[in-house]
Amino acid sequence: MSAVIPALSDFVDLQHVTSEQFWGLLRLARELKEERNRLGQNAPILAGKSLALLFQKPSLRTRVSFEMGMVQLGGYAFYLSPQEVGLGQRESIADVARVLSGYCDGIMARVFDHNHIVQLAQWATVPVINGLSDFSHPCQALADIFTIWERLGKLEGLTLAFVGDGSNNVAASLIMAAGKVGMNVRIISPKGYAPDPKVVAESNADVMVTEDLDGVAGVDVLYTDVWTSMGQESEREERLRVFPPYQVNRDLVARTGNNDVLVMHCLPAHRGEEITDAVADGPNSVLFPQAHNRLHAQKALLAHLLGNIPLK
Ligand code: CP
Ligand code: NVA
Repeated sequence: MSAVIPALSDFVDLQHVTSEQFWGLLRLARELKEERNRLGQNAPILAGKSLALLFQKPSLRTRVSFEMGMVQLGGYAFYLSPQEVGLGQRESIADVARVLSGYCDGIMARVFDHNHIVQLAQWATVPVINGLSDFSHPCQALADIFTIWERLGKLEGLTLAFVGDGSNNVAASLIMAAGKVGMNVRIISPKGYAPDPKVVAESNADVMVTEDLDGVAGVDVLYTDVWTSMGQESEREERLRVFPPYQVNRDLVARTGNNDVLVMHCLPAHRGEEITDAVADGPNSVLFPQAHNRLHAQKALLAHLLGNIPLK
């Protein structure tokens, strides 16, 4: 008999998720996706449960995939705009967390300051899920790894190159996630945009950090994200000057030497900046299946955190 995998109480950062828990979530995502594909629906395991969706920044994928994920599992989700809640301004984070905990069964939040999600989790008595902070985007990384697993049939030993702003939230979570599943990472960024060395040190992945685009040679996955993340708009002009050599275009895809390389992007994309149309819509792109997998990966999180479905 295999040992029981300890349950998660929140999903704030991958630093606090073990490799076996991460694998458990991937397997549950696969199971829920297969169930829906086979039967056209999932069992209503979250009937009567509700999730607050607290946003301090814009969103398409995160908002809709969490909302639909709850609906598909028989539960209910409601959106709270920055104007309504004024997290930490109209009301303290501790008070928001304690009030929401009495109304609903989980809180998903997208914040600027990562410390705000940490505080929410400290004060809430229901599970808290990080829907992106300035530091990390663990739901994205879970869905991304799920997509790679689905497409390539394995994870151990694969190499992912992240080209662009290696200091951003998506890169940080990919570095952490790769370490859970035995993948190698190459972060290829202009000078000044390398990942936080603490993130690299905390990951179990073999991480190479370089400014050299030759680092894409032989990789299995070529990943990029916007050059200017939400909240960094004042740096946009400077970033537009620095990042163009790091565009994911046909030439860079060819430099991987891998005809089957998976091209990924968390979206939204600034087409013509970090990725060209030819690549985003080309034969190697999995951008839309990747976006769609946010739904399935997060349903696993919801089933586990709100529905007490065990990880196996
Ligand atoms: N990838 C992602 O999180 O997209 P949104 O910002 O639209 O939620
Ligand atoms: N790095 C991007 C990701 C958006 C999903 C941002 O933070 O804006």
